[in-house]
Amino acid sequence: MTIRPILRAGHPVLRLTAAPVTDSDVSEIALLVEDMYDSMCDAGGAGIAAPQIGVSLRVVIFEIPAYRLDEGEDAIPLQVLINPTIEPLGDEVALGWEGCLSLPGMRGEVPRPARIRYTGLDLDGQLIDRTVEGFHALVVQHEVYHLDGILYPGRMTDMSRFGFTQGLVEGGVCTLPVPPSDDDEEQEDD
Ligand code: NI
Repeated sequence: MTIRPILRAGHPVLRLTAAPVTDSDVSEIALLVEDMYDSMCDAGGAGIAAPQIGVSLRVVIFEIPAYRLDEGEDAIPLQVLINPTIEPLGDEVALGWEGCLSLPGMRGEVPRPARIRYTGLDLDGQLIDRTVEGFHALVVQHEVYHLDGILYPGRMTDMSRFGFTQGLVEGGVCTLPVPPSDDDEEQEDD
């Protein structure tokens, strides 16, 4: 297990179009995913893309606890997506607050297609093919856009809804979801 440093916005690797994973890379991907998971958990995130730990390959992971989802939605156990694709379904746009481990301490309200179909391979080479909405759709889009060098501010249209979490919350612009446990968890970034 290795916790790797997470690159901050401004690092050129975060701007690259990441390379697709090929068969020859597969043995390395399990180790890469382990490091991604350890780094994501250490930083308190709900998802991470390989470029965020300096590896410009098309791999993302995410894990979504129930308290961050809409009522009635099930928690999403750890999901690995290799060479993911996303396809918007319909014209509906959802506004959601996002954070990013590469922009620690900041948040922004981002418009994204509300409903998407996504695909990708898991670590066993099984095809994942899902149609989702809500926070699940937001997280997948956030992570997959990392693979094309786009951080969430690049998808924003109203920059008055971007800033430090502390300022936004203190100013009453946004609130944060509260974890159900009473331990002193740091606020999560996506
Ligand atoms: Ni991010």
